[in-house]
Amino acid sequence: MIKIGVIGGGKFGTNHLITLSQLERQGRVKLAALADLSPSILETQTKKFNIKGYQDHREMLRQEELDAVTIATPDFAHRQVALDSIRSGKNVLIEKPLDITVEGCQEIIKAAEENKVFLEVDFHKRYDPYHQETERLVREGALGEIQYGYVHMEDKIVVPRDWFPGWAPRSSPAWFLGVHFYDLIRWILKKEPKTVFATGIKRVLAGLGVDTYDSIQAKVGFEGGTSITFDTSWILPDGFEAVVNQGFRLVGDKGVAEVDSQDRGMRTCLNQTGMQTHNLGFLQEKRDKWGNATFVGYGIESIADFVDNLEFINKGGDAKNLSGTVTALGADGLAATRMAAAVHESLESGKIINI
Ligand SMILES: NC(=O)c1ccc[n+]([C@@H]2O[C@H](COP(=O)([O-])OP(=O)(O)OC[C@H]3O[C@@H](n4cnc5c(N)ncnc54)[C@H](O)[C@@H]3O)[C@@H](O)[C@H]2O)c1
Repeated sequence: MIKIGVIGGGKFGTNHLITLSQLERQGRVKLAALADLSPSILETQTKKFNIKGYQDHREMLRQEELDAVTIATPDFAHRQVALDSIRSGKNVLIEKPLDITVEGCQEIIKAAEENKVFLEVDFHKRYDPYHQETERLVREGALGEIQYGYVHMEDKIVVPRDWFPGWAPRSSPAWFLGVHFYDLIRWILKKEPKTVFATGIKRVLAGLGVDTYDSIQAKVGFEGGTSITFDTSWILPDGFEAVVNQGFRLVGDKGVAEVDSQDRGMRTCLNQTGMQTHNLGFLQEKRDKWGNATFVGYGIESIADFVDNLEFINKGGDAKNLSGTVTALGADGLAATRMAAAVHESLESGKIINI
């Protein structure tokens, strides 16, 4: 059985822990341990998931005989943790972005090749059924050649202001939000990005002492002339009806696809929370026959895909065959990071950047 540990048990690491503990109940993995710098996170999560805890991930890698780790540390803290894990022979699933530098991604990919471990990047937008249906339509040619398109992904201001004001200044709407859709659109189009021109504004968050961009708009030219505009921001008002607002449209020679990934048709208004829309596609809580909370959705599926892939490889499958499928490999993580890095280079220089 695959023995697995998690590094980083914060907001998104919780999803990793939930997914892996569910897979443990199904007898597919052994969720052994969590490493997190924060003593309070360690205390809460190790109790909740009944696992061992380590403040130092290197100690966990030494003590536990793990086959794999999943990494959900902040964006800027992926590189060293990933390298340590890979160099100790662990297969690795790492949250997007693979790293916030092109060199960091290249180093991680090289280390994975040298140590013959499997490296996957968690881009969960690829697992959204509406996104997958768009990918299928484009792959089968139903939309013809895509000429242009438009993406928006916007978070409520609570995310950079209250969730992680400490590391938001080391991130941006391009790094935190943009990479999701840079990767998704590249995967749907099966075309490489060539040029980027970006503009952005620093005003609201800087005024609150969080020194990062409020919003970034990037126009990306892909192979064959396809042009996609990515609008990203994380300053939507506290009163907005969901934490995230997101969607896209693609216009091709033969058709158009439009996806509203935010408002999926369910809305509530409660005294406690006010008006809210619900994306049950990402995460839906159910109960199993024993009364355990069980979560389904593409937020779970994308992490479980790592375990599917490890099982596939253990049965003799070739990881190279996963390229171009729903699984994002190291090269896909690198491509998304190249795009985000080019967005920032364009922001700083005011120029069109060749990728
Ligand atoms: N929050 C989201 O909605 C979301 C969605 C998709 C992906 N992600 C990605 O998941 C990753 C984690 O984001 P988050 O929102 O969970 O952040 P977070 O700040 O809530 O959690 C990060 C955790 O990592 C721990 N940590 C930091 N450095 C560490 C180290 N060296 N070793 C061990 N633990 C360490 C912190 O103590 C913290 O508990 C990021 O890469 C982010 O981009 C987040």
